[in-house]
Amino acid sequence: MANVVVVGAQWGDEGKGKIVDWLSEQADVVVRFQGGHNAGHTLVIGDKVYKLSLLPSGVVRPNKLSVIGNGVVLDPHALAAEVERLTEQGVAISRENLRVAENATLILSIHRELDALRESGSAGTKIGTTKRGIGPAYEDKAGRRAIRLMDLADLSSLRDKIDRLLTHHNALRRGFGLDEFTPEAIYDELSSVAPKVLPYMDAVWRLLDDERRAGKRILFEGAQGALLDVDHGTYPFVTSSNTVAGQAATGSGLGPGAVGYVLGIAKAYTTRVGEGPFPTELFDETGELIGQKGKEFGVVTGRKRRCGWFDATLVRQTVRTSGIDGIALTKLDILDGFETIKIGVGYKLDGEVIDYFPASQGAQGRVEPIYEEFEGWSGSTAGARSWADLPAQAVKYVRRIEELIGAPVAVLSTSPERDDTILMKNPFEG
Ligand code: IMO
Ligand code: MG
Repeated sequence: MANVVVVGAQWGDEGKGKIVDWLSEQADVVVRFQGGHNAGHTLVIGDKVYKLSLLPSGVVRPNKLSVIGNGVVLDPHALAAEVERLTEQGVAISRENLRVAENATLILSIHRELDALRESGSAGTKIGTTKRGIGPAYEDKAGRRAIRLMDLADLSSLRDKIDRLLTHHNALRRGFGLDEFTPEAIYDELSSVAPKVLPYMDAVWRLLDDERRAGKRILFEGAQGALLDVDHGTYPFVTSSNTVAGQAATGSGLGPGAVGYVLGIAKAYTTRVGEGPFPTELFDETGELIGQKGKEFGVVTGRKRRCGWFDATLVRQTVRTSGIDGIALTKLDILDGFETIKIGVGYKLDGEVIDYFPASQGAQGRVEPIYEEFEGWSGSTAGARSWADLPAQAVKYVRRIEELIGAPVAVLSTSPERDDTILMKNPFEG
């Protein structure tokens, strides 16, 4: 039995929540390994809808261990609030089923403020972030001045750490013409929330290693998508973590061998929230229609998502950078009824044809997609539960995507309902 890592293969919002929930039924442990509460994963179980941002999706099911790994940036207030919200929805959360890495970096109010400030300023590049403080927190982690979860357990040395952090942040704030933060304000913010989050703290690397040795099945739940990866994405219009599958090991404290099957999630079309290049973006009524039918509004920020055709060149690239073994293709039903459907199969860059997405910001903005046109289907794929239920043209569309991206479609999702899923291959069976 392989462990499974689920990663987004586009710019996030691929429908990871549903797939992770569906896989978590077979898993013993579900682990988040990067990002923070910038993620928005929606789970529909029976007549209940759960919206998760920070907690691993396994948390809504009984007898699953949910783990927040060291690679996550943790806003302790957001964690406490999400636990409270789910508790009100009837989900039981305790140390029994939730553990958080002691060495996870904390997101503080200074990070949220700085994120919002940079986004609202006229200077610099606007990224269109979720303003959750994700980027500034990762900066402090790499800058070796971050406060980590374990620091809340040792209040006597916390003051020194806060002083060190503020030496840096107050210099920045003076530059922005803002009031300085006092160490007392940060200390109070942290000491008041500490009792709400410390009960979950653990040495996650050891816990996961024990679980693994005991033969437990681990599901690694990625957030965002490969094109938002800080190395491999559309830099600088990316998030501040590695979102590719390799991060599942680093972000949870296991070796690469612990990560088995890599399942990439891709939508049957493409969306993106925030700024940055998007070669197959549609600015016409077709784009509007996809957005309406697909309910393309952000779970976290409520922003309207940009919509466009499936870009096979991009997904082929993420299949490689994440080592994707199979794809879960979602929201095929949104394309029901379109007369023609297009797939991006390559680009033109400065008059030349290329079969990859170039790395430079300038070239990424200049590429023009080359399309293959596809006849649509008049029947419905919504709610289909077997290949035989699909219109022939829809099957052809899926087969063509497989060919172009160089990976098989292991799972096909045909509605938000968890049972509306066609399974070609069970990822846990390697
Ligand atoms: P899930 O897990 C889609 C985008 C933001 C912005 C960029 C940087 O639901 O798929 P950040 O706040 O992370 O510094 O913002 O990344 N972004 C997402 N887009 N889905 C997400 O998560 C995202 N998380 C961040 O819109 O462009
Ligand atoms: Mg989202």
